[in-house]
Amino acid sequence: MSTARCVSRLLPLALMAAGVLPVMSVPAFAANTTTSAAVAPATLPRVLVLATGGTISGRASARSAIGYDAGAVTGAELIAGVPGVDRLARLRVEQIANIPSQNMNNAVWFRLAERIRQAFAHNEADAVVITHGTDTMEETAFFLDTVLDTPHPVVLTGAMRPGTAISADGPANMYEAVKVATAPQTAGRGVLVVMDDVIHAARWVSKTHTTALQTFLSRNAGPVGFVDPASVRFVTPAQQSGHLGLPADHKLPRVEIIYAHADMDGRQIDDAIRAGARGLVVAGMGDGNVSDDALSALDRAVRAGIVVVRSTRVGDGFVNRDVEVDDDQHGLVASLDLNPAKARILLQLLLADGTTAAADIQRTFAAGH
Ligand code: SIN
Repeated sequence: MSTARCVSRLLPLALMAAGVLPVMSVPAFAANTTTSAAVAPATLPRVLVLATGGTISGRASARSAIGYDAGAVTGAELIAGVPGVDRLARLRVEQIANIPSQNMNNAVWFRLAERIRQAFAHNEADAVVITHGTDTMEETAFFLDTVLDTPHPVVLTGAMRPGTAISADGPANMYEAVKVATAPQTAGRGVLVVMDDVIHAARWVSKTHTTALQTFLSRNAGPVGFVDPASVRFVTPAQQSGHLGLPADHKLPRVEIIYAHADMDGRQIDDAIRAGARGLVVAGMGDGNVSDDALSALDRAVRAGIVVVRSTRVGDGFVNRDVEVDDDQHGLVASLDLNPAKARILLQLLLADGTTAAADIQRTFAAGH
């Protein structure tokens, strides 16, 4: 694209960000799908961008000086504000949802998984980039990594600051996500998260800070690579995780997360049993520990046929079997590296797949190592 055309495309967004131009005067895009094929050479890789909302699609609100609404800008508007991205790839943008990711749910997950499977099966795209809120990005990444079986790159990205903020991080993250997705060395690495110049594997990545740009860490393993304007560098060998089928009925069983704390009784656990949970994940203290009263309630859950996984509310480290808690005796599963949110997803998918024996579930939790 010529510099003049690039500037003329970006100017309205810059003015909108500065509050000079009302948002509505941004040039209109097709309702759900936009393609940059008209300006990008046909030799460039094809990237399907699936937009779901989040802060990367956020816009300032009047509620406070720093207030904003996530999921207010479309994926197409977002792409139009990323200088040079159409020199990396032919982009086709589809709006899968436009929500703050606190509202992410199974329906959107299944829509994403089915659309990605279809796009690769029908050779519609070489890679997929998903724009997503950061709050549940690690959960969506882990879900997709567990159910998708493809060597094609699938990369999630987002932003900690809305596009209207000073030093918005969304455009750079978006550019780098497309750069990683189109790098030949990205193939066969499962689902990745690209944020703030760092490439993370879905299994290990976690949001660790409420507001900082450097919020994503892969605490027990470290990042798998780095990206900058010039390069995409992986520092670990390519590794894909084992895959579980996507439940055909698009339903996941109820699995509750129980947060452990001092002076804990068994009431939350008994409530979850009564509410019909098929599984429980305990965000335990330290190495996945709970009080004696809570452990007795977990015994009641196991006797009722509920699968119980011990994870931890601590951000770092592994929850190992049979340390302070006798998992063998109580019939429990140790989550190892999986944090409570990811342990919940893996347990849901296993239960949906008909796996209910604690020993079999433990084997799958260990299979990611
Ligand atoms: C969200 O997750 O949608 C809000 C926070 C963010 O995207 O950074």
